[in-house]
Amino acid sequence: MPRPVSIIAKVAANAEEITKLAAETFAQSIAEAVSARGVARVAISGGSTPRTVFELLANPAEPYLKQIPWDKLQLFWVDERCVPPTHEESNYRMTKAAMLDQIPLPAENIHRMEGELDPEEAASRYEAELRNAFRLEGAQTPTFDLIILGLGPDGHTASLFPHTEGLHEMSRLVIANHVVQKETWRVTLTWPVINQGREVAFLIEGEEKAEMVRTVFAGSYNPEEWPAQLIRPASGKLTLLLDSASAAQLPGPPPVGETTLELQ
Ligand code: 6PG
Repeated sequence: MPRPVSIIAKVAANAEEITKLAAETFAQSIAEAVSARGVARVAISGGSTPRTVFELLANPAEPYLKQIPWDKLQLFWVDERCVPPTHEESNYRMTKAAMLDQIPLPAENIHRMEGELDPEEAASRYEAELRNAFRLEGAQTPTFDLIILGLGPDGHTASLFPHTEGLHEMSRLVIANHVVQKETWRVTLTWPVINQGREVAFLIEGEEKAEMVRTVFAGSYNPEEWPAQLIRPASGKLTLLLDSASAAQLPGPPPVGETTLELQ
C-alpha cells in the first residue's frame, strides 16, 4: 500500500485568486530554498493551467518580478511533449512566451527537456542534466525544492498516463513514455523522483476537474487508472492548490481557505 500523506488543500475562491495563490507558493518556496541552501531548484509542468501563473510572476506591475531572486533559481520541467521548442504543443514554448522572455533568469539556469530529439535520447540527456545539476552520485535521486504538477481529466499527472509503461519505472529519473491515448511520446520525470520533492503541489482549476479531484484524492487507490495517485511525497505532505470549482466534490464542507485531509 502507498505511504499515507497529509493533504493540505488550499482553496481559492476563483481563477484569479488561485493564480495569485500559486504565484505566492512559487515565490515563497524559492525564498525558503535560497535562504536555506543558496539556490532554488523548481520543476514546473505544462498544459494550460500554469500559464496565468507564469504571466503573473513575470508581470512588472506585480511584486514577484522584483521580489524573486531569479539568478538563484534553477528551472526544470516535469515533462515535455516530443516536439521542437517552437511547436505550439511545447511546454517550453508556453513557458517562454508567458514568463521566460520577461524575467532575468540566466539562460544557463533554464534546463529544457529537448523535445526535438528522439524521445529516448531526450530522456537520457535530461537524466544526465539532472545528475550534473544536482551533483548526484550513484543511485541518488534529485530533491527538487518545489514541483508543480497538473491533473489531467483522465487522472494523469506529468506525462504519466493511465495504463502506460511509465507507471512502472522505479529506477530511472527520466523516461520516454509512449502515450497510446494520444498516439505520441512524452519525456517525463518518473513518479519516484517526483515523490522526493521537498514540496509537491498540484495546481488544479475548473469545474471540469472536480470529479477527478475527488476520485484521485478521496477515492479508492487505483494508480493504473488514476496515475496522479502515485504522487505520495516522501515528506508525508502533499499540497493541493485548488479553486472552489475544482474543490467542489471533495468530502466535507466546501473548503475555502486551508483544509487538511488525511490520505490513507
Ligand atoms: C502536460 C502537463 C500535464 C498537465 C495536465 C493538466 O505536459 O500537459 O505536464 O501533466 O499538467 O495535463 O493540464 P491542464 O493544466 O492543461 O489542465
